[in-house]
Amino acid sequence: MMKIGTENREANFEALEAEARQGAAELTTAEAVENFRLAWLGRKQGRLKQLSEEWLQNAAADQKKLLGQRFNALKTLVESLLDEAVARSRNTGWSDEALRVERLDVTLPGTRRLIGAEHPITRTMNELVAIFAGLGYSVGVGPEVESDFYNFECMNFPPGHPARDTQDTLVIAGQERRSQRDRLLLRTHTSPVQMRTMEQQPPPVRIVIPGKVHRNDAADATHSPVFHQVEGLCVDVGITFSDLKGTLDYAMKALFGSSVKTRFFPSFFPFTEPSADVQISCIFCAGRGCRRCKQSGWIELLGCGMVDPAVFAFAAEKQPAYDASRISGFAFGMGVERIAMMKYGVSEIGQFFAGDMRFLDQFVG
Ligand code: DAH
Repeated sequence: MMKIGTENREANFEALEAEARQGAAELTTAEAVENFRLAWLGRKQGRLKQLSEEWLQNAAADQKKLLGQRFNALKTLVESLLDEAVARSRNTGWSDEALRVERLDVTLPGTRRLIGAEHPITRTMNELVAIFAGLGYSVGVGPEVESDFYNFECMNFPPGHPARDTQDTLVIAGQERRSQRDRLLLRTHTSPVQMRTMEQQPPPVRIVIPGKVHRNDAADATHSPVFHQVEGLCVDVGITFSDLKGTLDYAMKALFGSSVKTRFFPSFFPFTEPSADVQISCIFCAGRGCRRCKQSGWIELLGCGMVDPAVFAFAAEKQPAYDASRISGFAFGMGVERIAMMKYGVSEIGQFFAGDMRFLDQFVG
């Protein structure tokens, strides 16, 4: 530190100012700034305090006023140097404009986090699975990219069979020119998982298969190229068509309410014989007849039937216990979107896939 005499105070003040400027220019951290402040302005040990006492004591009476003014000026300088240093130490490289735009207003209300909900399709599938789980069914899954063999051939659609045309199959790119038998496709139904399950385990089998399926269908209010099915398969000794009717009647009552009735009509599926379409009494008009059931009082909801012996023959290649002379079984398949549309009063299937929060929010809770 400089030795300050009283004889040339003008020069002394200039030296002090220069020293303060130089010291302040080197301040980079908040800690250094604070030390600088204490060193110059500290009430007890500060330079200004000490020097002013020392100088003012020794000064002639007529000089005291002038000296006091010089000290005040020096103090003001040190304070403004400190302000600059504080600003510099806080400077994060943000421009004033960026700081203005980004500033945090802690009085603003927080962003409300949206609470997620089970998608109505997932919810419907889970409900169906739970109903069948209560009857002792377990859950099966299979691939969405499926071979022609599992999707069609082992389900008793031989190559070239006309029933294949009803399935509007989406073939995986690059596979179009292969023979029907060899190509890969997007599964058109969950039925191939019946075979995948039987190949893995001997009878008895009770399985529900929820899953996504694909068809080359133009989208409209009730069709979507991607939709969901729940498939069921029950195989054991002595399974009859009455077991099928009782099971599905129970499941529909569990799903839509105990007053719902079911009825079965002859139908055709390659993998079941006999086959049936199941109708339920209209849940909108309780069977009286309305716009939704086209005045018939009934709504068609699913397909089912007794497993065709030809299907068991394919299963028996890997699991000989699927011997159609000893065991029998039933299967069923239903479209999840159709059921969810009825349950939740949705009129456009596309709503399930649009990701519109105003629609999905209704299923929270
Ligand atoms: N797989 C059929 C379809 O997608 C639905 C179906 C009908 C499944 C009858 C079955 C069944 O298991 O027995 O159109």
